[in-house]
Amino acid sequence: MTRKHLIAAIVLSMAAPSLEAQKFEGLAPTPPMGWNSWNKFACDVDEALIRETARAMVSSGMKEAGYQYVNIDDCWHGERDERGFIQPHPERFPSGMKALADYVHSLGLKLGIYSDAGWKTCGGRPGSRGREFQDAATYAEWGIDYLKYDWCDTEGLAARGAYLTMRDALFAAGRPIVLSICEWGDNDPWQWGAEIGHLWRTTGDIYPCWDCEHDHGTWSSWGVLRILDMQDGLRGHAGPEHWNDPDMMEVGNGMSASEDRAHFSLWAMLAAPLIAGNDLRTMSAETRAILTHEEVIAVDQDPLGIQGFKYRDHGDVEIWFKPLAGEDWAMLVLNRGEEPAGVTFDWSHEEVADDLSDRSASFHRGRVFELRDLWAQASLGTTRRPLEATVPPHDVLMLRLDRLAGEGGRDGSEG
Ligand code: GLA
Repeated sequence: MTRKHLIAAIVLSMAAPSLEAQKFEGLAPTPPMGWNSWNKFACDVDEALIRETARAMVSSGMKEAGYQYVNIDDCWHGERDERGFIQPHPERFPSGMKALADYVHSLGLKLGIYSDAGWKTCGGRPGSRGREFQDAATYAEWGIDYLKYDWCDTEGLAARGAYLTMRDALFAAGRPIVLSICEWGDNDPWQWGAEIGHLWRTTGDIYPCWDCEHDHGTWSSWGVLRILDMQDGLRGHAGPEHWNDPDMMEVGNGMSASEDRAHFSLWAMLAAPLIAGNDLRTMSAETRAILTHEEVIAVDQDPLGIQGFKYRDHGDVEIWFKPLAGEDWAMLVLNRGEEPAGVTFDWSHEEVADDLSDRSASFHRGRVFELRDLWAQASLGTTRRPLEATVPPHDVLMLRLDRLAGEGGRDGSEG
């Protein structure tokens, strides 16, 4: 081998790992759960807030309910140093990110951070463009566990390639880090996101209102129902390790209790990431009870990872179903309107089936389920009798349907 060939071989072998780069698997078998600073605090973040929030995540019972990521959104940044390494803001994060990660880890939680594929973040802080590998290595060294990667100031960039670069950079850095793709659904991330990230935003930003558009001049943010309606047609793209992300939650940020409950229930039916966006340190008992509701979380976190679907649309009233493991189902009746809505659902006449997962509830063929009202935590009998209920305005009825053993066959032909 000549010297020239040797150098070529070394260069090729150094390049090889990046050719094999891939997304870290095993980080999001069910939708990620955590908290993010943006919805409530915007750019007003510092290390005291993050430490206090991590402590509140434990003391409120959220950790026990399954939440684990404490995610710092935009504006944690200081400047790059003379070698180009990004620094946290010296006054807001004086102890540095490694110390913060160590602290969050000491509570059994994980730390997330935020960057942007462009030159600048949406808040005007340094983006990762041209510094992807350097930034990923920095995050890995700090002990970061989750990266939300935004899409401001990216003119001329191709989204898939830009996110692929950060995926490869994270892989090269060697620390398993969840990659949250945040380009607002502009470039159909559901078409290419599964091999790159663990979740992708499907829409523009959420706003804490039931059904409004909040106009910011050049862009809008959206109420819960607006975001819900934008999920139409996307469920086939999501599943374990790759989730549709209808944005972080606004529970506890000013809507009514029933609207918060409906929002949380809908996100669970969508198998959405459950990223709280309120002040965990001061939340009310009511907000805490919503965010930590074990049985609703279990619908979101069901191991099948099948996103729910709208079964019937009566205008203001919608009926949704979600297949669950063990042949169970979740059902949700949504009242979008301003008046109480009476609902009758005669199971024996309904053919609830999901072509995507090839599952059928088979009520019409005699399969019987026990009905549990998840918010009331009460039994509502079985599917042998029609369901009759009144759903208050801006609220939901959410049920779990537990299949009764021996009642109706696997294919619905017995029993
Ligand atoms: C974008 C994102 C938000 C938030 C802000 C931060 O708008 O969609 O979720 O991260 O940027 O500036």
